[in-house]
Amino acid sequence: MKIAFVGGTGPEGIGLAMRMARAGHSIAIGSRSTERGEEGAAKVREVVPAAAASGGDNLTVVAGADVVFLTFPYSGQQTTLAALGSALDGKVVCNVAAPLEFKQGVGAVALSVEGNSALQEAIAQLPGARIVSAFQNLSAEELQQLDHPIEADVLVCGRDAEAKEIVIGLANQIEGVRGIDAGGPSQSRYVEMLTSLLINLNRKHKTQTAIRIVGI
Ligand SMILES: NC(=O)c1ccc[n+]([C@@H]2O[C@H](COP(=O)([O-])OP(=O)(O)OC[C@H]3O[C@@H](n4cnc5c(N)ncnc54)[C@H](OP(=O)(O)O)[C@@H]3O)[C@@H](O)[C@H]2O)c1
Repeated sequence: MKIAFVGGTGPEGIGLAMRMARAGHSIAIGSRSTERGEEGAAKVREVVPAAAASGGDNLTVVAGADVVFLTFPYSGQQTTLAALGSALDGKVVCNVAAPLEFKQGVGAVALSVEGNSALQEAIAQLPGARIVSAFQNLSAEELQQLDHPIEADVLVCGRDAEAKEIVIGLANQIEGVRGIDAGGPSQSRYVEMLTSLLINLNRKHKTQTAIRIVGI
């Protein structure tokens, strides 16, 4: 598959791109700057020498992709999706955003967003795209340590069953990771909010946490 990462120059996008490249997919790192996108692709090739990895501006990388990951901060969601507009129509899109802020003395605090979740807001804004959410609970640090096994479940939410299956399949290609269908768009809020808890646990216990659901 050809997988593009909008805002793929940050640690989460690069980590996911490394994992996807290692699984044999062609990856394209997107950025607001063509140059930064190309630098991001070079980073992936450094760690995964066999990677088919290119980079460019967000709109260009989206154009050639089968699947698009949104790996930029929630604060930029509205404007970035508006700029991409119909370029995402018909594409399987995976939103990784966890709306949160950092407060002095408290740590990460999950934000309540107007549309209930980042996913629901994205779907409402771009109804022609096949948007699901996933990977919000998987840390960039873990993703980038390719020799380090990840033990985690990835909860996938959305209304498009086929898009969810595709993203679950991608999650399952990361060694140690299991993708789980976590239900409709309204469930994404809980998954997005969990990220703040995990960040605070990481700080408290000086580790990298992830989630495992038992009973499934
Ligand atoms: N870091 C983690 O461990 C982690 C874990 C789980 C989920 N997430 C989620 O994954 C997403 C990416 O995380 P990250 O830590 O990689 O983020 P980041 O480093 O803050 O941002 C990633 C990239 O997004 C672009 N960007 C920044 N602000 C933007 C804006 N206002 N509008 C459009 N693009 C913007 C930048 O790329 P250019 O300047 O090159 O355009 C930046 O390099 C976030 O939504 C986060 O909640 C992160």
